Amino acid sequence: MKILITGGTGLLGGEISKQLLAKGHQVVFLSRNPKKDSAIRQFKWLPEKGDLDVEALQGVDCIINLAGSKINHRWTNEYKKQIINSRTDSLNTLYKFLDKEKNQVKFLISASAVGYYPHSFSKNYTEEDAPGDSFLSDVCERWEAAALKINELNIKTSIIRIGIVLSKNGGALKEMLKPFKLGLGSPLANGEQWMPWIHIQDLSRIFIFIAEHEIQGIFNGVSPEGIRNKDFSKLLAKVLGKPYFAPNVPKLALKIIMGESAAIALHSTKVSSEKIQKAGFEFKFEKLETALKELI
Ligand SMILES: NC(=O)c1ccc[n+]([C@@H]2O[C@H](COP(=O)([O-])OP(=O)(O)OC[C@H]3O[C@@H](n4cnc5c(N)ncnc54)[C@H](OP(=O)(O)O)[C@@H]3O)[C@@H](O)[C@H]2O)c1
Repeated sequence: MKILITGGTGLLGGEISKQLLAKGHQVVFLSRNPKKDSAIRQFKWLPEKGDLDVEALQGVDCIINLAGSKINHRWTNEYKKQIINSRTDSLNTLYKFLDKEKNQVKFLISASAVGYYPHSFSKNYTEEDAPGDSFLSDVCERWEAAALKINELNIKTSIIRIGIVLSKNGGALKEMLKPFKLGLGSPLANGEQWMPWIHIQDLSRIFIFIAEHEIQGIFNGVSPEGIRNKDFSKLLAKVLGKPYFAPNVPKLALKIIMGESAAIALHSTKVSSEKIQKAGFEFKFEKLETALKELI
């Protein structure tokens, strides 16, 4: 298969493309700043301007859409617009070119996030549940609507609602490790919030599993073992061989440091992985302890 990845230069794109190449697939990227000397051919696009190098679509069977500006950033009003627009502009640009240019794309898989679901300490969310009314829910709803519009072009479309991706190379774990390595790790707020984590290898395997089997639908991209922040923190300290007695980081302190984006750390969602497992997907890292031991 030939697969085009938008935002392929990021954390997740790196792992997905590594796995795709190892399986003998062909991979190309769409990037706002394509590099000439990259091992994977990169084509230029300007989603903000609705423009794209049409050569990027040549021979492509499947598109994996990962493009979007970082969520983990101070949420000024202007930046909030960028979080939304970077995602909808990317998909609208794809729609425009897939509609007007001759192509053989049969399938599109787009990233979304578990921020789609409302905050809850008790509910176990499945793909059927309704979105919340937070900023992140709004982002995900608009993102998913723009992806599903591509169905109109007779291109099968799937969406993966991604949880907290654990990777050696960046993302949430890298940030969490900083205080924990100094023996200063502690739960955030009351630590009761559910953290729907997933090992980056498994998440990449889900994208490829869906692409190879052309499974249409919306799937949660989280591991089967949900865990609360306080238990995640305790396990992280254990795996690192570090003490775990620092006081909880108060909610107010998080809000002062992170502003409105503290919602990322405080939002609680327990999310089910049952649907993708029923479709036949098998996780390599079901338990957080196994995942952390592999990553650290
Ligand atoms: N990592 C997680 O824990 C997590 C959790 C839930 C959802 N997700 C979502 O999954 C997707 C991939 O995640 P990731 O961790 O790989 O993200 P990432 O490392 O930030 O990479 C995203 C890529 O998107 C492109 N991009 C950045 N700003 C953009 C903009 N304004 N307009 C268009 N493209 C832009 C960049 O590629 P170029 O510079 O080459 O254009 C970048 O490499 C993201 O949409 C993210 O929101 C990630």
